[in-house]
Amino acid sequence: MVADVPANIVQQEQVGPGQYRLTLYAPAIASYAVPGQFVYIRCADSLDPLLRRPLSIHGVNRKEGKLFLLYQVVGRGTALLAARRRGERLGVMGPLGRGFTLPEPGRRVILVGGGIGVAPLVFLGHELVQRKNQVCLLVGARSADQLPVGKKGYTVPFDHAVATDDGSCGHHGSVTDLLEKMLAGEGADMVYACGPRGMLRQTALLLVRYNVPGEFSLEERMCCGVGACLSCVCKTAGNGGKPFEYRRVCVEGPVFRTEQLVWD
Ligand SMILES: Cc1cc2nc3c(=O)[nH]c(=O)nc-3n(C[C@H](O)[C@H](O)[C@H](O)COP(=O)(O)OP(=O)(O)OC[C@H]3O[C@@H](n4cnc5c(N)ncnc54)[C@H](O)[C@@H]3O)c2cc1C
Ligand code: FES
Repeated sequence: MVADVPANIVQQEQVGPGQYRLTLYAPAIASYAVPGQFVYIRCADSLDPLLRRPLSIHGVNRKEGKLFLLYQVVGRGTALLAARRRGERLGVMGPLGRGFTLPEPGRRVILVGGGIGVAPLVFLGHELVQRKNQVCLLVGARSADQLPVGKKGYTVPFDHAVATDDGSCGHHGSVTDLLEKMLAGEGADMVYACGPRGMLRQTALLLVRYNVPGEFSLEERMCCGVGACLSCVCKTAGNGGKPFEYRRVCVEGPVFRTEQLVWD
């Protein structure tokens, strides 16, 4: 069930340069949200900016009615959001979109997050651990200070490893190097990923090479958020003899199976 509610800001914490973790009181959304879904947020009280901004659900506390978001300031909307303070209210619509498919209990799962793309994977990791899956989260960032999670002050209660482009923390190189090492070693039954397109593309190639199924959460610019405007379409494999077709990330996604995606 989708709700559009004024949600109280419970906490707004800076967790890195331009990175924030936002806690909202939104029981109507927290009680229905599943990992991979997102909310559509009005960042300011005014009509400017007119469009809401989509953010993945980073976690929930259903008992306390809380919703957690993790975001990076990249432009006007997210800068306005970062300026909002505890006790203020935000217009929040959700939960929206199609979430991740969960594997059978006991399966070995790898989560691959590039930068702030780790946001929905932490929610997924918590859910998978509760379902008795073996979970390992791999997080990549440009440098140690850009790591949104997996660092002192914000760790996760399941196995995790980090990679940084400059070698300032964890593996010196890309998060997909870590993934390849794991797939070639202990292997995995399922891989979930979210992050920059280049990282997703490289992950998709590895999944084909090691014959492991995967689901990716995509990010596209959105206008309506509910399937009406087609601004968020992505190219996917076609059905019924069509070479490809466009699907709306806001309703048919943001989560897609790897074999559905077209990478040109
Ligand atoms: C389903 C979904 C879930 C998302 N989850 C998160 C999340 O959990 N945390 C987070 O930090 N961000 C997330 N994003 C991206 C976030 O929505 C954008 O960063 C935000 O809308 C930018 O708004 P802005 O006004 O600050 O920037 P703008 O001024 O609108 O744009 C600044 C820059 O960001 C790029 N950008 C803007 N919107 C998007 C977008 N939707 N996808 C990719 N690039 C964009 C622009 O091309 C531009 O380069 C998600 C996007 C989608 C579609
Ligand atoms: S944002 Fe309008 S159809 Fe997806």
